[in-house]
Amino acid sequence: MNKPKVKPNSPFFSSGPCAKNPDWAISKLDITALARSHRAKEPKAMIEKSITLTADLLEIPDDYKIAIVPASDTGAFELAMWTLLGYCGVDILAWESFGKGWVGDIVKELKLKDIRVFEADYGYLPNLSSIDFHRDVVFTLNGTTSGVRVPNLNWIDSQRKGLTLCDATSGIFAQSIDWSKLDVTTFSWQKVLGGEAQHGMIIFSPRAIERLNSYDPPWPIPKLFRLKKSGKIDEQIFKGSTINTPSLLCVADYLNALEWVYRVGGLRALIDRADSNSQVISKWVEKTPWIKFLAKDKDNRSNTSVCLEFCNFEEVLKGKIDTVLFAKSITKLLESENVAYDIGSYRDAPPGLRIWCGSTIEKIDIETLIPWIEWAYFITIDSFNN
Ligand SMILES: Cc1ncc(COP(=O)(O)O)c(C=O)c1O
Repeated sequence: MNKPKVKPNSPFFSSGPCAKNPDWAISKLDITALARSHRAKEPKAMIEKSITLTADLLEIPDDYKIAIVPASDTGAFELAMWTLLGYCGVDILAWESFGKGWVGDIVKELKLKDIRVFEADYGYLPNLSSIDFHRDVVFTLNGTTSGVRVPNLNWIDSQRKGLTLCDATSGIFAQSIDWSKLDVTTFSWQKVLGGEAQHGMIIFSPRAIERLNSYDPPWPIPKLFRLKKSGKIDEQIFKGSTINTPSLLCVADYLNALEWVYRVGGLRALIDRADSNSQVISKWVEKTPWIKFLAKDKDNRSNTSVCLEFCNFEEVLKGKIDTVLFAKSITKLLESENVAYDIGSYRDAPPGLRIWCGSTIEKIDIETLIPWIEWAYFITIDSFNN
């Protein structure tokens, strides 16, 4: 097979940190807040603006509250679990590495006893109809490492007694969200908007706020997770007075990303961009006998972290190689050509490719990438056969 002539304009297809928006340039960031106190008027106004623009773009109901918290999505989700869980029993859904990580924290660190875990293997989703909404429910919107997402939020009971805690980091801004179904939602800037890591956002429903105000878990809460002052929620945190010092460079970068979202047409445009990027891959997979989706059910396939497995190639290679090595050789080759960086599957996931299709990726770059994957595949087959 001939080597393709045209390379993607941008080789950044990592599933986190993800590609910057196509208009991004470091010189375009508003750096006037740098080296100033984050409590000073103008820097604090920038932090608050990043909260209000997020609320506006994501169409978050007015009675929900949003905060910027430390340590990226992990920090935000740990904060949610450590401050809210333990009030009642918990049902946890997990089907890939990150969801399974939350199970580990709830079982081994928080040591909660009244838990039910609904797990599924890579490629599958647990049975959503088994969940008891009288209990708290912990789940991931989009499984970044398996490319399996929940198809929608219709399975969540509107009359629930427990809270729903959703790690939405690789789905938010790319998938539509019915806010009435989510009580706690977390994400980080480094994913769908291509922002910087280390800052998490957390969104609370009125019922979650009520739980925060009325419940204190029996374990100590580290300062980094503390949202309360004198026993009640500290309202200032939701107005830009962060728990500790944020990076104002990261805030400037996030504001730049949000402004780009307005320019391209808002949330609907972001969802459409991710959908049409991932459809390019779907069409290719349909006609290509040696590649398949890790996600078994079409309805649960992610439109951001698209995970693929090689298939039917054992015959070609007559069992000569291991699949991890094969996938690694392909990704290494594409990286050395500066065609695609970081498209190997996650370290705990089945070997294959993971191609980020979120909205900061241009469709033309996915289209241009595909012939290169084909080229790398056949070159690698040859090298292993010889
Ligand atoms: C579903 C999910 N949860 C949590 C994380 C951790 O995010 P962070 O590294 O931003 O804390 C990731 C990162 O890829 C993720 O995909």
